[in-house]
Amino acid sequence: TFVVTQACISCKYTDCVDVCPVDAFREGPNFLVIDPDECIDCAVCVPECPVAAIHAEEDVPAGQRDFIPLNAELARLWKPITKTKPALPDAEAWRDAEDKRAQLQR
Ligand code: SF4
Ligand code: F3S
Repeated sequence: TFVVTQACISCKYTDCVDVCPVDAFREGPNFLVIDPDECIDCAVCVPECPVAAIHAEEDVPAGQRDFIPLNAELARLWKPITKTKPALPDAEAWRDAEDKRAQLQR
């Protein structure tokens, strides 16, 4: 499966969702996740993300492995998103922040 990692938090550009053939993205207040039960590993979403937040499960950076179970957990709570919409208002200010875990809203 593919996994959304911390770079997405507080940005939520949503370019990724338009291309997913199986509508695997789920939306929270300031982050998206991929439902691991839906993702078919096509990888087409990866280059769409302007902050490179999406990785194959096996390629998630060492310090962000906790996002693998986090995507699975939040995918059960959040609703599907299938159409791109404007990024969050402060997306540009947050895009290069190192660790945005503390910003995550559920
Ligand atoms: Fe959807 Fe493919 Fe990305 Fe999985 S890898 S979330 S199926 S676009
Ligand atoms: Fe997030 Fe990148 Fe998609 S910022 S919403 S994973 S395009």
